[in-house]
Amino acid sequence: MTQKHPPTDLKPYFLTIDDVQHEWNGVLDWPSFFGNENPVAVDIGCGRGLFLVTAGEANPDVNYLGIEIDFRQGRHGAKRLQRRRLNNVRVLGGDVFIALTKLIRPKSVAEVHVYFPDPWWKRKHRRRRVFTDHFVDLCAEVLQPGRLLHSWTDVEEYIGVIRSLMDHHPRFESLPDPDERPATHDMDYQTSYERKARKKGTTVHRGRWRFLG
Ligand SMILES: C[S@@+](CC[C@H](N)C(=O)[O-])C[C@H]1O[C@@H](n2cnc3c(N)ncnc32)[C@H](O)[C@@H]1O
Repeated sequence: MTQKHPPTDLKPYFLTIDDVQHEWNGVLDWPSFFGNENPVAVDIGCGRGLFLVTAGEANPDVNYLGIEIDFRQGRHGAKRLQRRRLNNVRVLGGDVFIALTKLIRPKSVAEVHVYFPDPWWKRKHRRRRVFTDHFVDLCAEVLQPGRLLHSWTDVEEYIGVIRSLMDHHPRFESLPDPDERPATHDMDYQTSYERKARKKGTTVHRGRWRFLG
């Protein structure tokens, strides 16, 4: 019988919601979690972690937490962090709705990034989408006043939904969309899904909003 290798221990780069319950008393207290007082950005549905790696390396004075429900993807991202010893970046394996309601303190987040959220094309699956009015309300709870939420997608119908939720929310104001920047090398994209979309020639819609408080 072949024996399965136990998963590589990726702590502290990858941890689950259960780990936070047991090891951090169920609350992400950023200064003790990251070991410093730097601002914290969250990347929701971080996938394989390209954004976390590039942003974490470019901004060592910002802490990044990726939240990813698919542990295989999240662990893949965490391996990238471990190889680079990127100590300002962590991946939390679990559902963003649990993380935002139970683990992350109100007014403790300096940036929210939501790149290429799953579109769930079939109408009967639409309620699995992350971007809903409840999600926007939860982001408004955790964001610090004056800070930004960024969301990009190549799904035209979904950006319509996102814009409508964000533009009509009384606690956010819409900012001008950022411009597309030419990529200088194969990994020079914000996320893996951005790379896929641009290589296919699909339009990427980019939105950003300021939380008014
Ligand atoms: C289309 S992928 C985009 C990945 C990455 N942001 C990118 O742009 O390359 C969407 C990701 O969101 C994750 N996801 C979906 N629902 C989630 C949830 N409720 N909580 C956390 N992650 C979620 C999926 O597992 C998937 O990895």
